[in-house]
Amino acid sequence: MINIPKGTKDVLPAESYKWQFVENAARQTAAQFNIREIRTPVFEHTELFLRGVGETTDVVTKEMYTFEDKGGRSITLKPEGTAGAARMFIENGLANSPLPLKAYYIAPCYRYERPQAGRLREFHQFGIEVFGASSPEADAEVIFAASTFLKKLGIKDIRLEINSIGCKSCRAEYNRALKEYFRPHLGEMCATCNERFEKNPLRMIDCKEEKCKAITAGAPKMLDYLCPDCRAHFEKVKCLLDSLGVEYTVNPDIVRGLDYYTRTVFEFVSTSIGAQGTVCGGGRYDGLVSELGGGNVPAIGFAAGLERLLLLMENTGIPFPAAAVPEVYVAGMDDATRAKAFAIVNDLRARGVSAECDLMSRSVKAQFKYADKLGAKYVAVIGGNELERGTVNLKKMADGTVSEVAFADIYGFLAENK
Ligand code: HAM
Repeated sequence: MINIPKGTKDVLPAESYKWQFVENAARQTAAQFNIREIRTPVFEHTELFLRGVGETTDVVTKEMYTFEDKGGRSITLKPEGTAGAARMFIENGLANSPLPLKAYYIAPCYRYERPQAGRLREFHQFGIEVFGASSPEADAEVIFAASTFLKKLGIKDIRLEINSIGCKSCRAEYNRALKEYFRPHLGEMCATCNERFEKNPLRMIDCKEEKCKAITAGAPKMLDYLCPDCRAHFEKVKCLLDSLGVEYTVNPDIVRGLDYYTRTVFEFVSTSIGAQGTVCGGGRYDGLVSELGGGNVPAIGFAAGLERLLLLMENTGIPFPAAAVPEVYVAGMDDATRAKAFAIVNDLRARGVSAECDLMSRSVKAQFKYADKLGAKYVAVIGGNELERGTVNLKKMADGTVSEVAFADIYGFLAENK
């Protein structure tokens, strides 16, 4: 037997309603905030992620699914949605459309990571990206959209952590301070940190190695190096979140794992799903569009991992609305009655009713059992007598009451007795 690749998952028919519930909540949230859907390719030129996500990030250095296509191009399965959205924005000249441009996506992403609970190699993100607005209100709106989405799902066990990682100019000064701090410790730090020291010292803060973590704990904090503009921006974002009733804590250690962030960064974190507790992460990325060859367009967004959300909902016992069930199951006994059941059921379907009948030539008893498993609301059997009279006895499964209904009236009866 050929097995599913490591780090990927099937969504089985019995659980897809949970996915649909989460996706519907995502679409509803997007609609409330007037955010339109975009769809970008699953694969992009590798260069997009090298330049966009950053050459010193774990995602780019260790985790990308990169291959050469038959035309000799280097192609990468998207590890995240933001770089592709920014490419789309630039390539389609959307800077000339009414701004801000607000977009959302629900899409698969690919990262070659060590699989564990809540960490997969193929996973799915609901992401929102807002291009063109630099105001703190845009930050607050995007964070409020994420919070509204999580609330819609019934998620309570979650905390919002925010930070600011400054702009190009204050970051330069911070990087100098980091280098000064880390220089005497380089001998004790891992090879990756040593590499990052030259290229991007901020990334060293993200290192998961115990020996490095101990050193990083005492490193200077970006919040202490914010320039007056970045500081005022962050203060305003906090004020706006307060006014929206969104609770948060400031966590000066959040730097995020991708290089494009500027100013506000945030994560929604849960303690109920193990080590991979961040279900949603995002922030401002004012330099990405210009880095990718577009104009000077500020932007902000987030992405939530659907698998982690589902895990969190399951682990904390949040109920999912029940899956849809057939309104009626019509059983037949022999060729003639089965043919009638088939005709009735398909007529109901053509009129928009969810109905079911036998496709397996099973006994009436076995058909009843199947109808029960499906959770059909009404069940009827057509026997010789029913066929002659042109009626069925519709049994309501919830309470056992039986109603005799003419074939032609089944549709009307079901409409009235939902
Ligand atoms: P990220 O923090 O790398 O940010 O990922 C966002 C979310 O995707 C995570 O919080 C997590 O729920 C989910 N996720 C990430 N990796 C995995 C994995 N291996 N398995 C399962 N779930 C995973 C971004 O991707 C940014 N593009 C977010 C963003 C949008 N920032 C601005 N706009």
